[in-house]
Amino acid sequence: MSGSNDHIGADGRRYGTATIAEAVARLRDGGLVAVPTETVYGLAADSARAAAVAEIYRTKGRPDFNPLIVHVLDLEAARSLGQFDSLALRFAAAFWPGPLTLVVPKTDDCPVAPAVTAGLSTIALRCPADPVMRELLAASGLYLAAPSANRSGGISPTTAAHVVRSLQSAAPLILDGGPCDQGIESTIVAVDGDDYRILRPGPVTASQLEAVAGKAADTAISSKIEAPGQMASHYAPSKPVRLGADIARPDEYHIGFGRVAGDMNLSQGADLAEAASRLFAALHLADDSEQPKIAVAPIPATGIGIALNDRLRRAASPK
Ligand code: TXA
Ligand code: MG
Repeated sequence: MSGSNDHIGADGRRYGTATIAEAVARLRDGGLVAVPTETVYGLAADSARAAAVAEIYRTKGRPDFNPLIVHVLDLEAARSLGQFDSLALRFAAAFWPGPLTLVVPKTDDCPVAPAVTAGLSTIALRCPADPVMRELLAASGLYLAAPSANRSGGISPTTAAHVVRSLQSAAPLILDGGPCDQGIESTIVAVDGDDYRILRPGPVTASQLEAVAGKAADTAISSKIEAPGQMASHYAPSKPVRLGADIARPDEYHIGFGRVAGDMNLSQGADLAEAASRLFAALHLADDSEQPKIAVAPIPATGIGIALNDRLRRAASPK
């Protein structure tokens, strides 16, 4: 494993990239592998092995009350882990494989390690579209627990190099699938009978969900944090972030959008999907720049722009 795709970490170490067979062997051995998905890179382990799942939490520095998403090849696999009522089935039919995570009640004989769901009676399931990830799921036959492959609270990785940048010497074997298509984490929807709530906005938009459900999402605010990972500060660069900035100050790296040029531009044509796919790469770039601060141009809060603004608000939130 010393091909031309290897990544050199900030510590000067070389991080190899894996073949599917090597990744399968590592996972079956109870190890971790960083995997590509169409949203962001994940830090994957066999969801049935408690020790491997514990290693995910350790590697990310993640609090263990924050549960993980389990990735499956198809609906049949999903149904062995979670209970799908009619609405959950309709969402799965409409958006899987794809960037939608469904939170449903666990099955009685759900084989995942308890730490995966952090003691909840529900489980978050996702059937990813990325072809390399699908090949891995098919070849391994495993259900893969995988949070985003970054240090807890840090910027999500959309390339293999970002995984190394974030996890550094803790970075595991990486299955390199190239830059992620969507570049922003899956939409998370909790389904409860005929009702549903959007726990995290993402590439599948509220209006797309509404079209399938035949009604709008529940917006009732519950007192418990239903997506425990959705903390105010998240996706955070090491530098202060200022939002809605048409003009940057001299000490700011400016992330532009549309006609606001910036030091880099998320999408000159003001295309929100293109902007989403480049958001985390832009934050990584800004974090590595010489300027001590970051400013971000205004981005319209429509469609996937809702998810973009959600991630930016958390990136700008005090730690
Ligand atoms: O696009 C994605 O979803 C990526 C790729 C790798 O699949 N994964 C990802 O994982 O973003 P992570 O761990 O960074 O975010 C998962 C979110 C967390 O906010 C967690 O609290 C929530 O899913 N979650 C997991 N299980 C849950 C459950 N049973 N109920 C409510 N929220 C849950
Ligand atoms: Mg994450």
